Amino acid sequence: MRPIEIAKGIYEVGAVDWNVRDFHGYSTEKGSTYNAFLIVDEKIALIDTVKKEFVGELLRKVSKIVDPKKIDLVISNHTEMDHSGGLPAVMEAIGKDKPIYCSKMGLKDLSRHFAPGLNYCPVEDGEELSLGQRTVKFMETRMVHWPDSMFSYLVEDQILFSSDGFGQHYAGPERFDDEIGDAIMPFAKKYFANILWLYAPLIKNLIDKVVKMNLPIKMICPDHGIMWRQDPLKIVAAYQEWCRQEPGDQALVIYDTMWHSTEAMAEAIVAGLQAEGIRAEPMNARNTHRSDIITAAFDAKALIVGSPTLNNGLFPTLADVLTYLKGLKPKNRLGAAFGSYGWSGEAPKLVHDELVAMGCRMVEDPLKVLFVPDEAALEACFEYGRRIGQTMQQA
Ligand code: FEO
Repeated sequence: MRPIEIAKGIYEVGAVDWNVRDFHGYSTEKGSTYNAFLIVDEKIALIDTVKKEFVGELLRKVSKIVDPKKIDLVISNHTEMDHSGGLPAVMEAIGKDKPIYCSKMGLKDLSRHFAPGLNYCPVEDGEELSLGQRTVKFMETRMVHWPDSMFSYLVEDQILFSSDGFGQHYAGPERFDDEIGDAIMPFAKKYFANILWLYAPLIKNLIDKVVKMNLPIKMICPDHGIMWRQDPLKIVAAYQEWCRQEPGDQALVIYDTMWHSTEAMAEAIVAGLQAEGIRAEPMNARNTHRSDIITAAFDAKALIVGSPTLNNGLFPTLADVLTYLKGLKPKNRLGAAFGSYGWSGEAPKLVHDELVAMGCRMVEDPLKVLFVPDEAALEACFEYGRRIGQTMQQA
């Protein structure tokens, strides 16, 4: 509950949410943080706030440095409520007339979230704001993660406050990259896969633009998770790689099952893939959180999805995962569909259509088995897996 001085006169004053386990449908098994930053210069600036229930924690941290009333201005890099929910209470504490710098889209979004009467000051991409000895340069970063998103770059200190960009949902004893090392990367990848995957082409262009600007960067401070000070360009390089959306060599078999028939098909397909030397695993959509399936799908070259037919349709867990995955617009993936059925058997074709709709290149027709797969049906599943594996090797 104490502020962290991340550089001389610059403090992290946000909140640690140790207990959040569901972040709008994303499983946060290690909680999260809502980072906010106080810059003490001739003018005192607060970058972002926190979820509204954590405002007390933020203000207590600020009070250990300055009287909150002495804050001269707020910079809102992003309107989503995990960073702006605390804004009205913060403005009550510091003075409602103080300026809130935001992007032009931020003005629209903040105005739709909060009652009128706050002093929004929209800024242009590239505009600079002097705090006295320091300068903040604003950079529009649309869709990282909303249309309003922007980064704020502290010129003299070479610190990039990157809002959602380069973040991770992680609450732990470590607050910096040098304290946790590579153990943070799976959290960063899960964050990218679930929050930013569909914006990968835009993020690639944005990173290219920032790289061309040749800004020296000593530290990257996102609004979630650990701050990158030892090797800030490591996460930039990871984003460049992830934006290419080049999958690994493995296959992911996502399925659910009612009476173990689709499960038996999944396992026979996995065995067929493995017989071709493909790294493959079955992932039960009822036992695995959708956000972890997405992270596995992010690395997989082939998405092989099995659903039993329930009430002439998809099994609900598969409908959930496929809807979520389709929204993330995966690129460069192969697809195939399968499932057991009792009488009508629509689900494999429905899965197939969903995979087509999300852009997968389908490598097999849907594979169906009536009721319980016998030895011949399991052999057919094995061969189906083998054929997919052979196609993967050629793709
Ligand atoms: Fe962390 Fe898009 O909010």
